[in-house]
Amino acid sequence: MLVIQGLLKRYPDGFEALKDVDMTLEDGELAALIGPSGAGKSTLIRCVNRLVEPTEGTIRLGDVELTELNRGGLRRARRRMAMIFQNYALVNRLTVMENVLSGRLGYVGFFASLFRRFPQDDIDKAFHLLEKVGLDGLHDRRADALSGGQQQRVGIARALMQDPDLLLVDEPTASLDPRTARQIMQLLADLCEEHGLAAIINIHDVPLAREYTDRILGLKAGELVFDGPPEELTDEALPEIYGGEDWSTEPGGTDGDVDDDEDDDEDIRSSGQFLTEEVL
Ligand SMILES: Nc1ncnc2c1ncn2[C@@H]1O[C@H](COP(=O)(O)OP(=O)(O)OP(=O)(O)O)[C@@H](O)[C@H]1O
Ligand SMILES: [Mg+2]
Repeated sequence: MLVIQGLLKRYPDGFEALKDVDMTLEDGELAALIGPSGAGKSTLIRCVNRLVEPTEGTIRLGDVELTELNRGGLRRARRRMAMIFQNYALVNRLTVMENVLSGRLGYVGFFASLFRRFPQDDIDKAFHLLEKVGLDGLHDRRADALSGGQQQRVGIARALMQDPDLLLVDEPTASLDPRTARQIMQLLADLCEEHGLAAIINIHDVPLAREYTDRILGLKAGELVFDGPPEELTDEALPEIYGGEDWSTEPGGTDGDVDDDEDDDEDIRSSGQFLTEEVL
């Protein structure tokens, strides 16, 4: 179970991106985090794995208080929280298999993974996961020779290699066509159910959020203004999150913006969670 209490994030310039956020995510629960651009969605999931340092508040995963961990403790805790990114964050010149295996970095250590000395069990597991995510037979392909949807599947397999309890997913479908986006959401939902994983999925696509998750969290200007099942997210409730009055009709009645944050994957480089172009 993930329990967030009184979470406040003040960036160095004084801007409060999160203001007193309280939420609880049960084991196995799949939640969509929605809200306009700049609402604090990425900040929230990054506070959980401390890619962003929370300013105030507590974040507990199971019985571990994440905000109090030292480096070693954080490294161990991060094994339990896997991230999936909009731009996949794969190492382009490595193979699919190598990228998936890099999900074990938190376990086997940097040098073993750098020299690709992985236990046979890990290799077997990677093959199994590749099959699961629909990439059977593509293990030797370079990551940059895959379509966006296929790259996201690699990102998902890499995340599952960590044996996480929690998935932190930042706009997994924003770079994908609508059909592929649906397939990826379906895959995430199926895998979460099968593995008993909890997930927070940042997503701009409200219909997709509604269709594939059990619970919607609505963030507006750093405050959680909606928390409930998809059925309760009515056309009347949407303006609470996105502002504007005429939300139920067509785009144009909203203050929300489309995502254009190309740098969302940057901070992972310093997290030591898996291999990236910059580490190699
Ligand atoms: N390092 C930083 N320094 C100052 N302000 C920041 C920093 N990072 C983010 N912010 C601000 O915090 C707010 C929340 O940003 P965040 O990236 O969490 O929003 P988001 O909801 O994920 O938006 P999007 O949907 O566009 O991805 C924004 O106003 C942003 O400008
Ligand atoms: Mg974001």
